[in-house]
Amino acid sequence: MRLKACLLFLFTWYCVNVFSCVRYSDTYPWKPDGPGKDREDLACHIGCKYEVEESDCCRCWNCAIWAGTEVDLFVEFVTILGKGVVLSEETYNESSIYKIEHTHSDLTDLPSNICNWDSEPFIRDLYEDEFDNMQAFWPAVVELDFQYNRIRRLQDINCLTKLDAVNLQGNKLTYVSNHSFHNLIYLRTINFTNNQIQYIDPSTIGTPTLNLINVDFSHNIMTELDIMNVLSHFGYCVLDFSHNDISHLTNKPQQSLNVSKKYGPGFTSFRNNEIVEFPNFKVLFHLEKMSQLGKLIEFGFDFRENPLNCDCAFQPILSQAEHIFLVIMRNYMDIICQSPPDLEGISIRNVDLDRLLCQLPASAGCKKPECLCIDKPNDGRIYVDCSNSDLGEVPDVPYSEYSSHIYLNISDNRINTIRNVSYLSTIDVIDLSKNDIVEIPSEVANLLENASVIDISDNLRLKSLPREFQRRDICKTFMRNLVIRCDCNSTWIQTWVHSKPCNSSYVFFMCDVPDHGLMPALSFNADELNCFSTNYFLLATWIVGVLIVLMLLSVTAYYLRYEILILYLRIRKLKFNKVVPQYNYDVFISYNDNDDSVRMWVEKTLLYCLQREKYSIFLPNRDLVIGGDRNMEVNAAILNSRNALVVLSDSYTEQREDGMRPWTENEWKFSWNNFKTYVCKNIVLVNFDHASPSDIEYPPIRAYLRVGCTVCFKNNKRCIIQEIRTKLGPPFRLPELPDIGLHNKNTKPSLIELFVVPTIDNDIVRYQDEESDEELCKTDYITSRYRRNNNSNKRHAIKPVLTQPKCQYRQCYACQRSIEDHKQ
Ligand SMILES: *[C@@H]1O[C@H](CO)[C@@H](O)[C@H](O)[C@H]1NC(C)=O
Ligand SMILES: *[C@@H]1O[C@H](CO)[C@@H](O)[C@H](O)[C@H]1NC(C)=O
Ligand SMILES: *[C@@H]1O[C@H](CO)[C@@H](O)[C@H](O)[C@H]1NC(C)=O
Ligand SMILES: *[C@@H]1O[C@H](CO)[C@@H](O)[C@H](O)[C@H]1NC(C)=O
Ligand SMILES: *[C@@H]1O[C@H](CO)[C@@H](O)[C@H](O)[C@H]1NC(C)=O
Ligand SMILES: *[C@@H]1O[C@H](CO)[C@@H](O)[C@H](O)[C@H]1NC(C)=O
Ligand SMILES: *[C@@H]1O[C@H](CO)[C@@H](O)[C@H](O)[C@H]1NC(C)=O
Ligand SMILES: *[C@@H]1O[C@H](CO)[C@@H](O)[C@H](O)[C@H]1NC(C)=O
Ligand SMILES: *[C@@H]1O[C@H](CO)[C@@H](O)[C@H](O)[C@H]1NC(C)=O
Repeated sequence: MRLKACLLFLFTWYCVNVFSCVRYSDTYPWKPDGPGKDREDLACHIGCKYEVEESDCCRCWNCAIWAGTEVDLFVEFVTILGKGVVLSEETYNESSIYKIEHTHSDLTDLPSNICNWDSEPFIRDLYEDEFDNMQAFWPAVVELDFQYNRIRRLQDINCLTKLDAVNLQGNKLTYVSNHSFHNLIYLRTINFTNNQIQYIDPSTIGTPTLNLINVDFSHNIMTELDIMNVLSHFGYCVLDFSHNDISHLTNKPQQSLNVSKKYGPGFTSFRNNEIVEFPNFKVLFHLEKMSQLGKLIEFGFDFRENPLNCDCAFQPILSQAEHIFLVIMRNYMDIICQSPPDLEGISIRNVDLDRLLCQLPASAGCKKPECLCIDKPNDGRIYVDCSNSDLGEVPDVPYSEYSSHIYLNISDNRINTIRNVSYLSTIDVIDLSKNDIVEIPSEVANLLENASVIDISDNLRLKSLPREFQRRDICKTFMRNLVIRCDCNSTWIQTWVHSKPCNSSYVFFMCDVPDHGLMPALSFNADELNCFSTNYFLLATWIVGVLIVLMLLSVTAYYLRYEILILYLRIRKLKFNKVVPQYNYDVFISYNDNDDSVRMWVEKTLLYCLQREKYSIFLPNRDLVIGGDRNMEVNAAILNSRNALVVLSDSYTEQREDGMRPWTENEWKFSWNNFKTYVCKNIVLVNFDHASPSDIEYPPIRAYLRVGCTVCFKNNKRCIIQEIRTKLGPPFRLPELPDIGLHNKNTKPSLIELFVVPTIDNDIVRYQDEESDEELCKTDYITSRYRRNNNSNKRHAIKPVLTQPKCQYRQCYACQRSIEDHKQ
């Protein structure tokens, strides 16, 4: 029965010591979860088997199976100052375990030969044997009991590797270092109660190298405690820091909580300390949010009998999920508020969270004495009341780590502009009534978009509202006693005031309507203002403008349709990179053969040069069958040519002498149609007379000239043939042949060459011998060096050379030639 009563108070420690393995033989083996987890000498009370929380139970109800069999070692004083040495009556027996006990005496230090800490030569010399003999015992010592002596220091006792318990209660310790026993993985119990300990190092207790289960630091004089001594890595029974002067917890090594790790669990008592402000675990453990505190859920903390101030700092932890609340407080622990006065004596379990407030001082950023700033985390708001304080501008507000919104009451002041303060967007409620506000700028209205309530009543100089207000809830925007100008710029007001039916107690503002005078806002009707006439006019103007622009665009497009078509076809041809179908001819040359200079140039220079390059050429006045249907043949030839080379001279589109339309007109038409229809066909236009587009009547040719893709005859670089070749592309039908060109005078043309090169005019062949054909085709003709052949110029006799000065561009060629002719 007694056991049950104890288990009910599972975490209260007066029950713990009553139990020992001797008294209760009904035990079963048990291991702790820390570094001592390989121990075989511990047992748990059989009663825990039936507990729901079996491991919690065993942590408090365990014992060592050797308990009571320890062999005592004695301590003998060696100085009058209270030093002693440990003595043994027998030699070391390795199957025994030992206990050093010396209680209620006057020891001022641990015995000098415990871990041989004492380096004083006089003692070491005198007790050399004891120092030497005792070393064998060290690993077999399981308990130190020096309670009620006058020990002032805790030496390094890490040599006692099997140490299980240390009892130093009732001594005069003032400080405990985190190195004194940090390697003792068997250490289960330490009792330092009733000392004068002021400080213990961080990580003295909770470190991963220790497996402490019962720790008693009660009845000391510590004023602060490092949180890393509380947050044990392994399960424990009780950490007792009660009856100290602890007022705050620290985290000096700035360690953070590993949120994916399990700490504890165990029970920690802070009873009867001086904690006024509830520890902010979120800050202490560097947590991102309070809910991560769930790690501590299995810890029990006892904060009873502290002068706890139930203020805003309490709210975050109390508002967490109820189970955290329950675990921390456990049912039997009632934390009683000591302050503030209105909560004194009330258990925090009964405190209304709304009453957990902090009054923020000037040091926190509150404008004193004009304002009263109250942090109320349960609302998530800081209440700042600066009403009736003769303020000239919007005040600064304090910062709080618990609340993020502002409730600002600055009514009844002298404020005339709303300063762009950084916290505007965090305002939830703002009371600006009874001020002197002249205008609410748009950006301020934007920053206030999330404010649930805005009160701008009684600002007599305010004549307009920012348009951004139309998105606000009219019923939560208070505007009593305002006279707002409702004109064509603010027709939105009409929609806004009717957007929602408000509470009957809501008071609307007045509208000052041009030509209509004052009226209640609800009666404002924008239709009476004739606002839209100007708008319709603007709209009409705009539409007409757009129409005109569209018309201009389409006229231009019509006018330039051929140019656009050519450009489009060009682009399409550029993109076209499929295999080109085979044509019979590479080039169809279209020119007016009645024009002598053109004919001369075509037949003597162009033809020769192209043939030399092994282009296959259709030349109408050479290749047409005499007597055939010219148009049909030309059409077929063009259809079978990859390129049409048009030599555009002034005479190209001229009427023939017999009054008929020139042949060239049809040639051009066929070429043009082919160019439009077949992606891989091309027109190369040679502007023989440097005609300008305006000279040409036929639109596609004009467009061709405009778009500027022609070969101009007045070519300064004198590389017309070169350019023509580039535009034509390489001759298509012939494979690359070895370089056995005609220019090699000593080599006979090969058979292949003779076979593939179309018959070459004898005249031209003759030039080759006399003049470098290279030169001719590279730089075209050079007039002075041109060798005329009289026999080939039969038509010249029929049609005399024109003497009018239409020679400017063919000058270099034709005119000079004819002059030469005349001379002869
Ligand atoms: C050591 O202790 C065991 C049991 O305590 C005892 O049986 C044994 O005789 C002792 N050995 C010596 C050498 O004293
Ligand atoms: C041990 O204590 C020292 C001194 O107080 C401190 O600097 C050190 O961080 C502590 N060790 C650990 C592991 O926290
Ligand atoms: C420490 O000693 C005191 C006094 O004897 C006792 O009440 C307390 O339970 C002990 N603490 C531990 C952890 O054994
Ligand atoms: C946190 O704990 C987990 C699980 O114990 C461990 O894997 C991880 O390394 C720890 N992280 C840090 C930063 O210690
Ligand atoms: C602001 O303060 C005035 C004067 O104390 C008060 O009448 C008014 O109700 C307060 N406004 C708000 C929104 O609390
Ligand atoms: C108002 O303040 C905000 C933040 O402080 C800033 O981003 C914004 O540019 C300011 N606007 C004006 C008009 O000063
Ligand atoms: C208002 O709230 C919305 C939605 O939460 C947010 O996107 C916006 O930035 C807030 N406006 C201001 C001025 O803070
Ligand atoms: C409307 O506002 C514009 C500028 O925002 C101003 O120039 C104009 O005078 C206003 N019109 C009326 C009728 O108030
Ligand atoms: C109207 O406002 C009054 C006081 O402002 C409030 O008591 C009442 O509940 C409101 N009624 C409705 C229907 O919101």
